[in-house]
Amino acid sequence: MLTNRPRGTNDILPAEINKWYYLEETFRQVCHQYGYGEIRLPIFEHTELFVRGMGDTTDVVEKEMYTFNDRGGRSITLRPEGTAGAVRAYLENNLYAGPQPVKMYYLGPMFRYDRPQAGRYRQFHQVGIEAFGSHDPGLDAEIMALAMDYYTRLGLSGLSLQVNSVGCPQCRPVLRQRLQEFFAPHMNQLCPECRSRYHRNPLRLLDCKNEKCQELGKGAPSALDCLCPDCAAHFAAVRHQLDLLGVAYQVNPRLVRGLDYYTHTAFEILVGGIGAQSAIGGGGRYNGLVEICGGPPTPGIGFALGLERIILARESQGLTWPRTRPLDVFVAVADAAASDRAVRILADLRAGGLAADRDYLGRSLKAQMKQAGRLNPAYTVIAGSQELEQGRVAVKDMASGEQQTVPLDQLVDFLQGRTK
Ligand code: HAM
Repeated sequence: MLTNRPRGTNDILPAEINKWYYLEETFRQVCHQYGYGEIRLPIFEHTELFVRGMGDTTDVVEKEMYTFNDRGGRSITLRPEGTAGAVRAYLENNLYAGPQPVKMYYLGPMFRYDRPQAGRYRQFHQVGIEAFGSHDPGLDAEIMALAMDYYTRLGLSGLSLQVNSVGCPQCRPVLRQRLQEFFAPHMNQLCPECRSRYHRNPLRLLDCKNEKCQELGKGAPSALDCLCPDCAAHFAAVRHQLDLLGVAYQVNPRLVRGLDYYTHTAFEILVGGIGAQSAIGGGGRYNGLVEICGGPPTPGIGFALGLERIILARESQGLTWPRTRPLDVFVAVADAAASDRAVRILADLRAGGLAADRDYLGRSLKAQMKQAGRLNPAYTVIAGSQELEQGRVAVKDMASGEQQTVPLDQLVDFLQGRTK
């Protein structure tokens, strides 16, 4: 128990943190270029926010939330996603009263109690963006372009961007009714979950993973068949803007997202080679959500991308990772009498902006050199008491193996010049 982490969680070890830095820094860069600023949101919120925001018939709210009462008796939920929190922050901080659109991005852990498998975890990490206050279909296209740009910068290929329109409160009831009419004769053959969806959330009938239900759903009406003129025009304009930006996509009329807040544009990005959990990102418009959360009617749009799935995809495509910042210098001590001076040297190197380390296990010089080899610094300083008395140390270039003597008072400059 004490040495097992909870199911569905992962440790990210120092040896693999380079992957995360790379994914996070690249995302920050792309977002900055598209005019998005970072927001840091709480990891837990009042449960009610997610129930209202995501919809109480969604899988996430019904089955997957980590909900508990805090010591004050309030119901708290670990965030299963970032959108509801972003909406809350937009309202609570009066961001709607300033210039629009408000464009923000976030990164961090999310929590869903789902059955863990490759690519599906109970604590996972998303990067995401949300933009509030604009109906412009150009924004729909831009955020898809941003997501695809990000994946491209990460070197990923073979992605499929699937786009749909799920309509608005005007056309949704038409779709709902037509779906119910279509599925009514097959009611008894549907899986138990779909029978319940039929009444509560018929759109999700299109989304069932059960083979039988998929078979029965062939030929079912799609959202695109029922769009009102405004939604149809918006969707056409989004596609036009995607074409302008040169973003490749496929229209998938059967795409329905798992969260209830979507209106108009919905999209998902799929990749092969990472198993059943092939969606590495998804998002869409949510023009009603700000109002649902108690704010003025405000359009919104965003997406979130799963970092664990991006890591799986990069690795399945044989892509390598940039190294973390290497160690600049290892300070070895040739004899015990030199060790106090070596401590000072190490402190001076660090104060000079170098990444420097030493031995802490009382190793022999030979074993220290072996340890240096493992840590792989650019240089090793070898401090011996005799040379120190003459104000010098030996410096070994670890790549070439060459060694030279450097005056102590020039050591920091010498190493700074060669490691920057
Ligand atoms: P979502 O589709 O639920 O959307 O999640 C977005 C992405 O997070 C998925 O495509 C997947 O890559 C990753 N993901 C989701 N669940 C897991 C899991 N259990 N384990 C690993 N990765 C997972 C949202 O979360 C929306 N908030 C996106 C959004 C933002 N829509 C508008 N704005």
